[in-house]
Amino acid sequence: MALNLDAIGEKIGPIEKEYSWRDVVLYALGVGAGFDELEYVYEKDLKVIPTFSIATIIDFLFELGAKANVNTAGILHGEQEIVFHRPIPTEGKFITTGHIKNYYDLGDKGAIIVGESITKDAKGKKLFTSTITIVGRLDGNFGGEKPPKKTIQFPDTDPDFVVEDCPSPDQPLIYRLSGDLFALHVDPKFARQVGFKEPIMHGLCTLGFACRALIKTLVPGRPDKVRRISCRFSKPLYPGTPIKTLIWKVSDDKALYRVVNAKTGDVILDMGEFEFGELVRERIDFTGKVAVVTGAGGGLGRAYAIELAKRGAKVIVNDLGGSRDGTGASKTPAQKVVDEIKAIGGEAYANYDNVATKEGGENIIKTAIERFGRIDILINNAGILRDKSFTKMDPDMWHGVMDVHLHGAYYVTRPAFLKMKEQGYGRIIFTTSAAGLYGNFGQANYSAAKLALVGFMNTLKEEGEKYNIKVNTVAPLAVSRLTQDIFPEDMLDKAKPEYVVPLVLYLVSDKCDISGRIYNAGVGSYNRVVIGTGPGIMLSEKGEVPSPEKIKENLDYICSLKDFKVYKNLTEQLTDLLSSLNKKPDQDAKGESTIFNSPNEVFAAMPKAFKKDASKGVDVSFLFKISGKSGGEWVVKISNGNLDITEGVIDNPTTTLEMEDKDFLDMMNGKLPAMQAYTSGKLKISGDIMKSQLIEKLFKLN
Ligand code: NAI
Repeated sequence: MALNLDAIGEKIGPIEKEYSWRDVVLYALGVGAGFDELEYVYEKDLKVIPTFSIATIIDFLFELGAKANVNTAGILHGEQEIVFHRPIPTEGKFITTGHIKNYYDLGDKGAIIVGESITKDAKGKKLFTSTITIVGRLDGNFGGEKPPKKTIQFPDTDPDFVVEDCPSPDQPLIYRLSGDLFALHVDPKFARQVGFKEPIMHGLCTLGFACRALIKTLVPGRPDKVRRISCRFSKPLYPGTPIKTLIWKVSDDKALYRVVNAKTGDVILDMGEFEFGELVRERIDFTGKVAVVTGAGGGLGRAYAIELAKRGAKVIVNDLGGSRDGTGASKTPAQKVVDEIKAIGGEAYANYDNVATKEGGENIIKTAIERFGRIDILINNAGILRDKSFTKMDPDMWHGVMDVHLHGAYYVTRPAFLKMKEQGYGRIIFTTSAAGLYGNFGQANYSAAKLALVGFMNTLKEEGEKYNIKVNTVAPLAVSRLTQDIFPEDMLDKAKPEYVVPLVLYLVSDKCDISGRIYNAGVGSYNRVVIGTGPGIMLSEKGEVPSPEKIKENLDYICSLKDFKVYKNLTEQLTDLLSSLNKKPDQDAKGESTIFNSPNEVFAAMPKAFKKDASKGVDVSFLFKISGKSGGEWVVKISNGNLDITEGVIDNPTTTLEMEDKDFLDMMNGKLPAMQAYTSGKLKISGDIMKSQLIEKLFKLN
């Protein structure tokens, strides 16, 4: 058997590996995480220890060995480097391709095989690059070159941090479930055959311990900040041996480390390098793109135009140059911004048209096409204010504001959309406002126009979908001439338009595949706004028209936003509505829409909701003491799969549950989670508290 020297450069993979949060947690347990690092082992707000990546694609190491034709009896993992391009998601798919990069000859000590691989996610985004070194202890003396000398200068001082830990004696048995099933780490006979007294720790498992220690020390709580980790596996470690990770921080973003056997001082992992900080992300660039920004002579529009130009876009800077209420006109504001852009080496052209006319809108887009040949980005930003309380708001104020914000957006977007459709690419922004989303005294005209833009977007995103035209809406918050009088002095700098720019730039970039969403942006904070629809209630199961009284009685359910939905479009909402119509009434008897109006109804429904299968071997009696007008006492007995419900009390029930009728009904109608009822004191449980948990298992009421 000899190494296959011709295999250098031959492709390995793609090796595909799908994983879920369970794999992430299993790995974390395998490398020693526990209750004190719950973020790695609890699916709620789960974080991924980045070395999970390499453990999960361990098949690459085996394929590398197979391609190189290494003698498996002598195989050891020599060195490992992982460079992260993106944080590792908590679930998804790894698609890995790679090749053998090199062979080196260690003579009697064996051979070194270096493999390189790139792992991407299912969307083709690069996640990490791995360089793996295998030592083939039985494959040396093949006449190859010696490996290049690698040295890492460790500081001549004590380490800055020492993290102590102790892998359990069974550690490899858990770790191997993450993928590396090699017999050396589990089979005592095999381990002895290849020269060890018992199975040894996986080198990558010890690396996982080191990675946890490094994160805890250098980027606490931020495993996504690991940029690179590497090490040499220098000595075997037997499970159950205490270890120390010695860490020297050599700069703001780099540390060197070693893992030593705490008993003998032997270095187990050597030449460890750890780089950290925000991952270098792909730059958002607009080279070759043409953007139109309306109302870009000042405020937010100016900030968008400048940053777009800085990042390579050719920009049409539109501005009518009127006053705050829209009267007057001037070429100066637009021209000044164009001059600014040119002064920093960007490309821009001024346009002074009024967005509020059909001709104006058409001419703005015509200017972009004539000057720069296309239109990729349109930011509808021009705006004015004519504020007055509603009773004083005359038609001029109403129409003036509608004309600029709503009709202006229509006049400019239509010719732009036509061209984008032809191109098969476009990014459009509408500018809404918190006044429209939430309401603001004295701005009925402005609020109406601004929220109308959301409706406009909702439909345009549907019509643009198949042409790769993405349409989004942003509600900015920034100091400008429109808002300068409402901001206190100390907010002027904190609310610069520049804080809104990053979100808008992302949304108009080719990296954005989101469409039809609304965002707030300002002072460095960004969030999404949705139009949510509550579950509601079907009050017309048999086709009857419900009375207004029935509406009043059911207002709580009608208004509930519990588990609200955000529909993609009208069709989705309608389908949902129709499917609730088609549900058979008896399906609902136990389903979501069963509403209990009294405790009596609950106990009457219990026999139907009883899950006989789940009651095998259960022998309990629950005493319910329900206070309030519709209250009473009930005993629910379950024995040998039989259910018996009676009104009244018994001596020595297994568990007693006490509640007010109102709270009891809320709980049974799914409005009050049992745990919350208990922790808030609304539900009092005495006797065998644990047995109360059986209720949820034995009955499917709601
Ligand atoms: P701004 O007054 O500095 O900018 C608006 C620009 O639009 C001005 O340069 C103006 O000359 C131009 N403009 C007005 N009417 C025009 C027309 N008919 N044709 C062409 N250009 C016209 O104000 P700011 O704050 O930068 O506003 C930008 C957008 O953001 C507006 O749509 C505004 O309603 C919206 N907005 C701003 C908020 C803020 O906190 N600054 C809050 C919510 C929304």
